[in-house]
Amino acid sequence: MSETYNRAWQSSIEDPQGFWGEAAKALDWTTPPSATFSEGQGWFPGGTLNTAYNCLDRHVAAGRGDAIALVYDSPVTATIRRYSYSELLAETSRVAAMLASLGVAKGDRVIIYMPMIPETVFAMLACARLGAIHSVVFGGFAALELAKRIDDAGPKVLLTASCGIEGSRTIAYKPMVDEALHLAHHQIERVVVFQRDRLHADLVGPRDLDWKALRAKTENDPIPAPVPVASDDPLYILYTSGTTGTPKGVVRENGGHAVALAWSMQNIYGIGTGDTFWAASDVGWVVGHSYIVYAPLLVGATTVLFEGKPVGTPDPGTFWRVIERHGVKTFFTAPTAIRAIRKEDPDATFLAEIGTGGCKAVFLAGERADPDTIGWLEDKSGLPVIDHWWQTELGWPAIASCFALGDLRRKRGSAGFPVPGYAFEILDESGHPVPAGHSGAVVIKAPLAPGAFRTLWNNPGGYAKNFATFDGYYETGDAGFIDEEGFVHIMGRTDDIINVAGHRLSTGQMEQIVAAVEGVAECAVIGAEDAIKGMVPIAFVVPRAGFDADPTLDKRVIAAVRSELGAVAALRTAFIAPGLPKTRSGKILRNLLRKIANGEAWTVPPTIEDPEVPKAIEQLVEHSGRA
Ligand code: COA
Ligand code: AMP
Repeated sequence: MSETYNRAWQSSIEDPQGFWGEAAKALDWTTPPSATFSEGQGWFPGGTLNTAYNCLDRHVAAGRGDAIALVYDSPVTATIRRYSYSELLAETSRVAAMLASLGVAKGDRVIIYMPMIPETVFAMLACARLGAIHSVVFGGFAALELAKRIDDAGPKVLLTASCGIEGSRTIAYKPMVDEALHLAHHQIERVVVFQRDRLHADLVGPRDLDWKALRAKTENDPIPAPVPVASDDPLYILYTSGTTGTPKGVVRENGGHAVALAWSMQNIYGIGTGDTFWAASDVGWVVGHSYIVYAPLLVGATTVLFEGKPVGTPDPGTFWRVIERHGVKTFFTAPTAIRAIRKEDPDATFLAEIGTGGCKAVFLAGERADPDTIGWLEDKSGLPVIDHWWQTELGWPAIASCFALGDLRRKRGSAGFPVPGYAFEILDESGHPVPAGHSGAVVIKAPLAPGAFRTLWNNPGGYAKNFATFDGYYETGDAGFIDEEGFVHIMGRTDDIINVAGHRLSTGQMEQIVAAVEGVAECAVIGAEDAIKGMVPIAFVVPRAGFDADPTLDKRVIAAVRSELGAVAALRTAFIAPGLPKTRSGKILRNLLRKIANGEAWTVPPTIEDPEVPKAIEQLVEHSGRA
């Protein structure tokens, strides 16, 4: 065991005030906090700061203006562009001036529905500079999902681009925005559209504004000064899947977030001033918020913004090329991306040819990293491959091997050890700790570490529910166990959330969509195992009378999920079933459906209503050969 890690963890638990008080010194505070933690006010009460100032201005003021802050590497547009800290500050300042000209001020919400282009990063930082609250919506979500977020966040302005580029395809964003604005009840005053060369969007006057024209118009406006905000003022709202059809708006506070992220960069990932870090995620997810945008810039490092896919842009060597080309020291991706690369390049010939430059470690998160994938990558790259675990709610890793604290202990199948700041327990249904090696609910002792959410937007009751099941603990929603050596193993969710290619989705939400399709009497959606994506959703649909022979039903179900939730939901199979396996009290046996879909052994539960139903479903699945 690493003594450094052990000491850090012990001191974070025994003396959180001292531990995080020390960590907070890494930032420039406009007003230093009067305390480290208060039960009522959370982390760093009394403190004021500006997150964008800490990401940009202070590095320029310290003489590091020429250091590279952002590298935009876009194989899909054959572009590589580097922004120094001075340039990134200048670009951010111009977007802040654009937003200010539209009346955006402290506390206003701004929706950002944009692809992986530098303007997206400028926009996020510009909001932070103004003290406005951004809410980035992932481009793979459909209009209805965007509309839900617009209605919940109540934004003044929406920023978008004419298109995203997904591998070889161009996805028009503006029609999606127009439809979302049509569906939403909340009226947005202004939509600012960044026109990309690949595709120009139609602007609807006078609501829609052209980004470049607005920038030119405000070119001589004064640069808005960074607005000091309170530690607990929101920096952003990020919506994530809950167990209902309504997304949960995780609110991230400025103070705790900046402190935790700066600490994590140095102590988990080993990244400091002048190093290059790359998180191959999307800014629409929490990983993108934390580790493409904020954390690397907070510590004065270089961050990489990659617009491409692990394969096909142009080949499975693209990740290694980016790592080598930009001198990436620590790399972060999702296991699904490695599986996709392995499928196309099983012998890792691209990796052998290109190498990994000066890369020191690969971190994986977003879904369980299967031992086989870790083994393959460690073997082929010669690098430590570190699985680590976290959630949108927490904002930064809570289980990891703290590589930069000298802890390289790893066990394939485990996400590592509690990160300093987090005390875990595994509890049984009645809230009692289970012995080592036994599975139960994975919970974290309250209060949560700095950076973790302290409310949900417009939904404090929904937030409180996370602490309601187990007194004094945050319920992660994951099941798992801690083994004799202290390794934490995450085994899956206890609710209906699934992880599809590292994307968090709710099967409950999909069921709501499917149930509303004409001709559907009842349905169940489950996550079935998938060799590349980890999991894929599969629907089982019982037709209403008169629709039994409808040859379009499965296609209409698939299309409904795609058009209402988004392409990212990836529902590709809808089985038309004669019935659903249920208990006599009417509860759908989803676990049984999961086993059948995964080809696992199953037995007829004694409580089942009709033992013939699972057999019929198994035949359907076997017949299709697709599940
Ligand atoms: N905008 C618009 N559409 C998007 C999108 C975006 N930002 N991201 C994904 N989509 C679409 C895709 O085009 C695809 O559409 P299709 O069904 O018409 O082909 C669909 O959503 C599913 O996308 P995806 O899940 O990415 O699957 P894929 O087959 O295109 O690619 C992988 C598979 C494994 C290569 C890809 O999922 C991947 O790179 N995963 C890593 C995910 C990750 O980094 N997650 C972050 C967690 S840390
Ligand atoms: P998200 O909020 O999108 O980051 O998703 C969080 C969920 O993804 C967690 O609650 C887990 O179910 C899952 N998850 C994330 N990282 C891991 C990991 N390393 N191992 C297992 N599950 C993970």
